[in-house]
Amino acid sequence: MGYDEVYAKWQLNPEKFWMEAAEGIDWFKKPSRAFFEDENTPNWFKDSSVNCCWNAVDRHVEAGNGDRTAILYDSPVTLTKRAISYSELQKKVALLAGGLSSKGVIAGDRVIIYMPMVPEAIEAMLACARLGAIHSVVFGGFASNELATRINDAKPKAIIAGSCGIEGNKVIDYKPLLDGAIEMSVHKPLFCVIHQRDQLKATLIAERDVDWDELKTNSAPVECVPVSGDHPLYILYTSGTTGEPKGVVRPTAGHMVALHWSMSNIFNVKPGDVYWAASDVGWVVGHSYIVYAPLLNGNTTVLFEGKPVGTPDAGTFWRIMEEYKVKTFFTAPTAFRAIKREDPLGKLVSGYDLTHLKALFLAGERADPDTINWASKMLNVPVIDHWWQTETGSPMAANPLGIEQLPIKLGSPSVAMPGWNIQVLDDQGLAVKAGELGAIVVKLPLPPGSATTLWNAPERYTKSYLDTFPGYYETGDSGYIDIDGYIYIMARTDDVINVAGHRLSTGAIEEVLAGHPDIAECAVIGVSDPLKGQLPLGFLCLNTGCNRKHSDIVAEVIGDVRGKIGPVASFKLACVVDRLPKTRSGKILRATMLSIANGKEYKMPATIDDPSILKEISLALSSCGYPIG
Ligand code: COA
Ligand code: AMP
Repeated sequence: MGYDEVYAKWQLNPEKFWMEAAEGIDWFKKPSRAFFEDENTPNWFKDSSVNCCWNAVDRHVEAGNGDRTAILYDSPVTLTKRAISYSELQKKVALLAGGLSSKGVIAGDRVIIYMPMVPEAIEAMLACARLGAIHSVVFGGFASNELATRINDAKPKAIIAGSCGIEGNKVIDYKPLLDGAIEMSVHKPLFCVIHQRDQLKATLIAERDVDWDELKTNSAPVECVPVSGDHPLYILYTSGTTGEPKGVVRPTAGHMVALHWSMSNIFNVKPGDVYWAASDVGWVVGHSYIVYAPLLNGNTTVLFEGKPVGTPDAGTFWRIMEEYKVKTFFTAPTAFRAIKREDPLGKLVSGYDLTHLKALFLAGERADPDTINWASKMLNVPVIDHWWQTETGSPMAANPLGIEQLPIKLGSPSVAMPGWNIQVLDDQGLAVKAGELGAIVVKLPLPPGSATTLWNAPERYTKSYLDTFPGYYETGDSGYIDIDGYIYIMARTDDVINVAGHRLSTGAIEEVLAGHPDIAECAVIGVSDPLKGQLPLGFLCLNTGCNRKHSDIVAEVIGDVRGKIGPVASFKLACVVDRLPKTRSGKILRATMLSIANGKEYKMPATIDDPSILKEISLALSSCGYPIG
């Protein structure tokens, strides 16, 4: 069956389509049907009883594949390599789950995981899943303040953390960040489990902290706890338009069905194949395609603790592909841009045997044609752009290699996947013609695996995603669909920016800037960057009478953002201006400032209060080096 037939099969009978896909999952109690409508949110396979850890780990051991490698850990930053088989993984996870359970963690409890890219992070996620506890992984590049926000929202019974992360040649001490966050937060976890790394041992707080190894030594393994199909597997916080992150809630059963389906049909991998997603377990790509999807599918997943460049060089990716015979590789375009910048002629590629590699998948940000062309020239395999979001959990649009390789159109993540009825609407909510720009939406109901709600904020879920276009999910992306059904993602319609494949909120950065005592008003935009795609740039208006040196204030706000949001915000650009351009009703003209920064033509907004301000903005931008070139 080709793509058209598979998509039509889903359209004709979604219920049958997903019940068939559900056969790839082991159930304690099979679902009586696929779709259950609960108010606004779809709830798939709700009346089933299931466990995600069983499906990701135990069932492979039970089926006689315990010797197969589950995780290949490769850490050039610690010069460590480890292979963990499915049966070893089962033992480790069952023991850790036993430890958590002995300290009182039960199904439904939340557990925050704040860990670097080590196998123990995957073990921690799976141990929670084994117990039905809801994990919430927090990316290591976030500062205490962000961690505290998540602690207050998720109210975890426990936090599992690493003693340190390693960023290139820097050792990041996690413990002060963790302790600082717990001190700041109103909610306090009952206990913390600390995984001590050799590079930096943390000092434990006697009443609260438990050593990872000791917890396991003193525990007995536990079995998987059956949970209902709609039980939340995890909460993953992602940026919205405000400083308050959105806690995306992932339902267990639908997630497993969708991910399992995607591995054979989109990524074209079979059980036993080596699959590598170079992202971080703190992002959705890490949740779905480092951890759950490859393990659900019985693949070997590569866990890479390093960077595309500098650990030790721009040939690291090729070395790993050769060494582990990687069949399918997934990363963000920015990683390839980083490699291309250091090794434009691809001299380092030629030294490696990449014959096992069959495809490169790119997502997380727009894949620019230059990067796609360079990557296909270097690797000589199909380069597949695919589009999705934290909320969707798996690709909405892709070129489904496992079904059929469709022609590649540069600049497009190809076509809608089964489950996704993707449309483009104008401001009035009317469908636009092929090729016309508009808001990209998905006709409800959303398919299995999509976020069913936001943690503690069901109204925000409705407001953010369902209210603007009744009957549709608003993706927050704008773009168009061509006459062949190829989707083109052009920009965000909200204040979210994409920095090195990381989703950030300009609103959250503005909140930090506004907290500086000398700043009266500010605005942050995402300017184009040749490496990271976008970078946040702040305009600062100072309080009347403030005569401090501008460079001091700029340095302070850069430090504030790093301290309050974290280094991952990559906030290094800010300039002082007298006023911000605004409409007569007081709305800041961010889009106009962005056009100036990106060197794009723009129309003078009819409602602008004072057009002369734009000249000042232009001058301030050029002091930061914009527009580039
Ligand atoms: N813990 C602590 N700090 C972290 C961190 C972590 N897990 N991840 C990133 N940081 C820090 C970095 O050290 C850097 O700090 P610095 O300002 O002191 O240099 C800062 O956060 C910004 O990190 P990053 O955006 O990753 O920039 P970089 O210059 O270190 O690397 C790339 C640039 C392109 C090589 C890198 O972003 C990359 O590999 N991206 C791949 C894309 C990806 O994985 N996307 C995830 C979604 S698919
Ligand atoms: P995140 O939730 O962090 O995965 O970010 C999702 C957002 O990243 C999407 O809404 C898009 O704006 C952007 N994005 C992800 N993949 C792509 C892609 N293939 N092409 C263009 N934009 C993408």
